[in-house]
Amino acid sequence: MTVLYDNIGELVTNDPSHGDGSPLGIIDDAAIVVDGERIAWIGRNDRAPAAESRVDCRNASVIPGFVDSHAHLVFAGDRSAEFAARMSGTPYDGGGIATTVSATRAADDRQLSDNLARLAGELSRSGVTTFETKSGYGLTVADERRALEIAGRVTDETTFLGAHVVPAEYRDRRDDYVRLVAGEMLAACAPMARWIDVFCDRGAFDVDEARTILEAGASAGLGLRLHASQLGPGHGIKLAVELGAASVDHCTFADDSDLEALASSTTVATLLPGAEFSTRAPWPDGRRFVEAGATIALATDCNPGTSYTTSMPFCIALAVRDMHLTPAEALWAATAGGAAALRRDDIGVLAPGMRADFVTLAAPSYIHLAYRPGVPIVERVVVGGTPTKESSASPHE
Ligand code: NIG
Ligand code: FE
Repeated sequence: MTVLYDNIGELVTNDPSHGDGSPLGIIDDAAIVVDGERIAWIGRNDRAPAAESRVDCRNASVIPGFVDSHAHLVFAGDRSAEFAARMSGTPYDGGGIATTVSATRAADDRQLSDNLARLAGELSRSGVTTFETKSGYGLTVADERRALEIAGRVTDETTFLGAHVVPAEYRDRRDDYVRLVAGEMLAACAPMARWIDVFCDRGAFDVDEARTILEAGASAGLGLRLHASQLGPGHGIKLAVELGAASVDHCTFADDSDLEALASSTTVATLLPGAEFSTRAPWPDGRRFVEAGATIALATDCNPGTSYTTSMPFCIALAVRDMHLTPAEALWAATAGGAAALRRDDIGVLAPGMRADFVTLAAPSYIHLAYRPGVPIVERVVVGGTPTKESSASPHE
């Protein structure tokens, strides 16, 4: 079945062979032909070939679907009171993770999968067409494995995060917990995960512990990701680069030597503005990353503690306003950057042969994602050629 989406006012392809050679590869007055799950043709509206059916995009801006490369969606419970306390000055130190671990262990499978489905629905309605999600709120062999089983029903991008924090029952024998994560827990979880992640920061795991766990994960065939430099400076970013991790995430306290290491690596720096927003942390300066030559992604970090948002447009608006990215850089980071952070070459770019994952905005330009913060301008979401959201927003001539 072929479908022609025509009368696209502005088409962001992320293919720099289009337009003026800038990374967004914008084609004005464009059209797309979709064949099944893939894009068959892309180009100027007046040259579009015929297709079996047609969707009139009424001059809208069309962008690649957002790729959310960092989320923690398998959990139970609520931490709104912790958020309120933070807004009154209580600092975030990761301590609240234990609250979610208790609630998650106590929840049944149905509660966890219903909550995950609710959040996945929110992501989709915000324009996310691919998302990653982590375990990390179980912290026993059975609970981590259960989280990954549930996650694997809704995404292929599953990440084992048994090394989120040391759970209370191992407080006085953390070496035993590191051995458990790198041994029995990894063996139970690796078949259900694509990635392994460690929270390498103050109050979580140190660089040596993170190295032990990540190396064990790599030996088990998992790709590497890392939470680093969220709560303070450290060596986590350099460890991620040294081990060839796909992504190092947060990077709030990255220094010049970290940026230099990232620039000469294949490791993506994933910035998580929802976390800075919800923890009142200092903003990392996205401009420094871009100017140093690092590849950056933007992701929601959706979790009940530090960033309870599923809105990529909100994250884009924060990254533009407070991390000093241009709207173009922020959109690229939330689409092609996310795909790079997941080492995917079938998404993030709109071109023939790529997956037909794209979003129609109720706006004439992608700039409206930041220019109209908080306004739900995501109108139509197409995933693998199938529309999953059609709203009745008014046209914009
Ligand atoms: O990415 N930093 C570690 N993990 C999560 C927060 C977890 C929580 O507070 O529940 C994050 O911010
Ligand atoms: Fe996170």
